[in-house]
Amino acid sequence: MLPQTLLCLLNAVIIQAATTQLSLNNVVSLNSQNIPSSPTFSLPTAQNLTITIAYCSSDTSSARFFVTNDTTVDDPGPDGGTDVYEISIAEGLGTFSGAFLNGGVLAVDVVDSSNSFSFEIGASDSGPIHEVLVAFPLLGDTTSNQALLFSPPFDPLTFTDPTYPNYTLPGPSLSLPSPPGSSPNYTLVVAPTSSQNLTSLPQTACMISSQSSSGTIANESLWPRDEDGWRTQWILEGLASETNYTAYVVEDNTKLSGPMYFVTKSAVFACPLAAFLPYCPGVTYAVPLPSPGSDSSIYDSTNIPSNISDILTAYMTNFTTSLTVQACGRDYYSPLQTCADCQRAYFRWLCAISFPRCSEESPTISSTSSSASSTNLPTVTSALQAQATSSPPRNPTFPSLNMSYSVLLPCIETCQAADRACPYFLGFACPYAQFNANSSYGVGYIDGASPGQQGLGTPGVAQDRWGNVWCNLV
Ligand SMILES: *[C@@H]1O[C@H](CO)[C@@H](O)[C@H](O)[C@H]1NC(C)=O
Ligand SMILES: *[C@@H]1O[C@H](CO)[C@@H](O)[C@H](O)[C@H]1NC(C)=O
Ligand SMILES: *[C@@H]1O[C@H](CO)[C@@H](O)[C@H](O)[C@H]1NC(C)=O
Ligand SMILES: *[C@@H]1O[C@H](CO)[C@@H](O)[C@H](O)[C@H]1NC(C)=O
Ligand SMILES: *[C@@H]1O[C@H](CO)[C@@H](O)[C@H](O)[C@H]1NC(C)=O
Ligand SMILES: *[C@@H]1O[C@H](CO)[C@@H](O)[C@H](O)[C@H]1NC(C)=O
Ligand SMILES: *[C@@H]1O[C@H](CO)[C@@H](O)[C@H](O)[C@H]1NC(C)=O
Ligand SMILES: *[C@@H]1O[C@H](CO)[C@@H](O)[C@H](O)[C@H]1NC(C)=O
Ligand SMILES: *[C@@H]1O[C@H](CO)[C@@H](O)[C@H](O)[C@H]1NC(C)=O
Ligand SMILES: *[C@@H]1O[C@H](CO)[C@@H](O)[C@H](O)[C@H]1NC(C)=O
Ligand SMILES: *[C@@H]1O[C@H](CO)[C@@H](O)[C@H](O)[C@H]1NC(C)=O
Repeated sequence: MLPQTLLCLLNAVIIQAATTQLSLNNVVSLNSQNIPSSPTFSLPTAQNLTITIAYCSSDTSSARFFVTNDTTVDDPGPDGGTDVYEISIAEGLGTFSGAFLNGGVLAVDVVDSSNSFSFEIGASDSGPIHEVLVAFPLLGDTTSNQALLFSPPFDPLTFTDPTYPNYTLPGPSLSLPSPPGSSPNYTLVVAPTSSQNLTSLPQTACMISSQSSSGTIANESLWPRDEDGWRTQWILEGLASETNYTAYVVEDNTKLSGPMYFVTKSAVFACPLAAFLPYCPGVTYAVPLPSPGSDSSIYDSTNIPSNISDILTAYMTNFTTSLTVQACGRDYYSPLQTCADCQRAYFRWLCAISFPRCSEESPTISSTSSSASSTNLPTVTSALQAQATSSPPRNPTFPSLNMSYSVLLPCIETCQAADRACPYFLGFACPYAQFNANSSYGVGYIDGASPGQQGLGTPGVAQDRWGNVWCNLV
């Protein structure tokens, strides 16, 4: 029988030696409470191995991580050595890549084992498993208690133009597009910015997805909102009015997109959301229509008034007919543009004009405008135009509403894109900035107000990820 102390010592040695193998393109989840104080992991062989560490709890100073690709070193640590590297962690995420031609070792030095501290390790030969994505989630729009939100795009739309002599352009899409066969697994996390500060936490997928999320998801589906591609679209309900929220999207439980901010409208805001319109995929915002009724909370292709959709799609069909009077694909009217480009640009413009967008001055923006002027930043106000109760609807196929509201005007670039893309004989023209264009369009937001100032507007975009929306871009 061995003495007790020696047994303990042996156990310790066995635990030390029991190196866990990390397998390629896999994630291991660990907790400081149930691992030995200085665990080591053997790394798989790869020409270019990317090792990522993601903290899943907020204590960010509890461990250090060392790697080596020198197989004669069995416990890399702070003393260093040839080919011993420390993986530095910033905002809860550490990334290291290098050649591990004979494999290697990763050692975790738990600095303070009294705290429960959990983290994930990933090793991959095809880029980082854990990362903060460059693309942000996208805001569709909000009402007083709903938000329409999108994941980053994952499957860009590709257009195959028809060719002469059979230059047949499709008419307006009347049925919902069929979604791609596979999509990333996106999950949404939303929290009030002021009471639940998600940006102060480690910016990792496991940390953010462990937080409680506001509202209830009424609908989650895939939608090709714009040419950037398919996105997951969420309709979130049960939010508080006039509140600034922070939103993140987690991809495949390991990648994080965000933060993005949005503000809900005031309690009196009465316009309902519209979405799922196959002929106008970019219409994903609040429209001046009466409440859609008790059994649905938004307008979609099944309950949008048919005199709105019928007339709009008739315009689209007639436009396509007029356009193809020209010998599309044979007589080129432009070296850059085709009839198909013209049709796409015209349909987008027609959707923006046909579906007015309700909005309101953001309460938070107006309260911070004084600080903005004190730092000499130009105060940019959104392209809002008040609609009095008595004023006729902007689109005559919309019913008159017994309420006043503000319209967020379309960005003039939507009109100019159609003007640029379409043949001269169609007679399409946009108003000039110096002649009152700002009474029907948002002018100077994306491009500057003078010709040739592409992208030089203030702020240069239609909306940003801080919750500001300046003009309507369909
Ligand atoms: C170890 O890493 C160094 C630096 O990245 C590299 O030059 C070397 O080839 C690697 N050795 C092996 C055996 O992978
Ligand atoms: C290794 O992969 C990382 C992540 O994809 C990449 O940034 C790096 O450039 C690659 N290194 C080499 C030498 O290919
Ligand atoms: C012309 O193209 C359309 C759409 O691609 C197709 O449906 C039609 O059959 C084609 N017609 C001929 C004559 O090839
Ligand atoms: C997506 O991830 C969530 C959260 O981990 C999981 O519950 C769900 O089953 C996953 N869905 C698919 C289709 O993999
Ligand atoms: C949230 O935390 C970040 C980082 O700790 C800090 O910069 C920011 O001011 C905080 N925001 C709020 C609303 O408390
Ligand atoms: C989401 O709403 C669309 C349009 O109303 C509907 O076709 C789809 O079935 C809904 N999806 C879910 C998951 O409820
Ligand atoms: C479309 O064209 C037809 C035939 O020329 C015409 O009767 C109809 O009024 C047009 N529709 C619209 C919305 O312009
Ligand atoms: C919402 O909160 C974020 C973060 O504090 C801030 O940058 C943004 O300006 C706020 N949005 C509005 C519209 O106030
Ligand atoms: C649209 O259709 C509804 C129901 O058929 C009708 O009551 C309404 O007057 C129509 N609106 C317009 C502007 O034609
Ligand atoms: C419009 O609203 C006002 C005040 O709420 C009300 O007095 C009036 O009867 C309403 N008109 C119609 C046509 O509903
Ligand atoms: C619209 O443009 C005109 C001329 O450029 C300018 O005087 C006017 O203030 C603008 N109106 C608004 C609401 O910006």
